[in-house]
Amino acid sequence: MTIPHLAAADGTTLPAIGLGTYRLNGSAGVDAIGQAIRAGYRLIDSAVNYENEGAVGRAARSAGDVRDELIVTSKLPGRHHRYDEALTTIEESVFRTGLDRVDLYLIHWPNPKVDLYVQAWRALIEARERGLVRHIGLSNFLPEHIERLVAETGVAPVVNQIEVHPYFPQQEAIDYHRENGILVQGWSPLSHGNDLQQHPVVVEIATALGVSPAQAILAWHVARQVIPLPKAASPQRQVENLDVFGIKLTDAQVEAITALGRPDGRLSDQDPAVYEEF
Ligand SMILES: NC(=O)c1ccc[n+]([C@@H]2O[C@H](COP(=O)([O-])OP(=O)(O)OC[C@H]3O[C@@H](n4cnc5c(N)ncnc54)[C@H](OP(=O)(O)O)[C@@H]3O)[C@@H](O)[C@H]2O)c1
Repeated sequence: MTIPHLAAADGTTLPAIGLGTYRLNGSAGVDAIGQAIRAGYRLIDSAVNYENEGAVGRAARSAGDVRDELIVTSKLPGRHHRYDEALTTIEESVFRTGLDRVDLYLIHWPNPKVDLYVQAWRALIEARERGLVRHIGLSNFLPEHIERLVAETGVAPVVNQIEVHPYFPQQEAIDYHRENGILVQGWSPLSHGNDLQQHPVVVEIATALGVSPAQAILAWHVARQVIPLPKAASPQRQVENLDVFGIKLTDAQVEAITALGRPDGRLSDQDPAVYEEF
């Protein structure tokens, strides 16, 4: 299955869908991620805090020729935002994957109260210059944090990975990123497997299109040019989630799913303005 790519302002392209890997760990994780790569996934999410960079790296190393097409991702945890610690943490991520480099490295959360994310960003810039990572970006950053980073370093992120699903569609944030040439990855794109797939609006649209509710939701992300990162352990669900680029929602269907959004629709009340993760 060939996956389309989306481009950031600097010309960097990323696959239009990726595999979420939270809770895919150990040997079972290697098997699940390996089968996803064989099914066609080329963007693999991960983070220091998921404790599965080893599994992701092992699956990527077994991928043979397609290794060069993979975007293996990791994320810097909040406890290591200080410049020197951040650089060492990135090196450790590379060592844990067993790869020559990590393809995409993100700052996991801005932790604005701690206020060290500019140092962390400088470390990511240096890591890219040293060839430890290919591309650098952010996760859970608000426009005010992004603008400060760009003003202080002159370097813009290629991507920001944020919470996006029909209960929290983030239209304003998506417009901001599009205007600034920053790609958006959507975390928990299926709303972490809660009741969303049984919602009557989703079920009705999926039935009309002859697809599964999960596919209708992922096609909604694709229509909004958000890169969804669905996590699925089984080969059947992985393939189902990848097979969404032929599904065309009408504007009315996109709007009907977006209308499921609620101001309090975040899954765990993690507002990046105040939430801290270490
Ligand atoms: N940057 C951040 O702060 C952040 C935060 C949260 C998550 N993330 C990333 O985003 C990824 C995805 O988010 P998530 O894991 O929270 O949740 P998700 O991808 O929204 O949902 C995963 C759940 O949906 C189920 N599912 C997957 N495909 C399905 C299908 N076709 N039909 C029915 N059910 C299906 C999965 O079941 P099975 O597991 O049984 O397959 C699992 O229970 C994470 O794995 C992680 O990589 C990043």
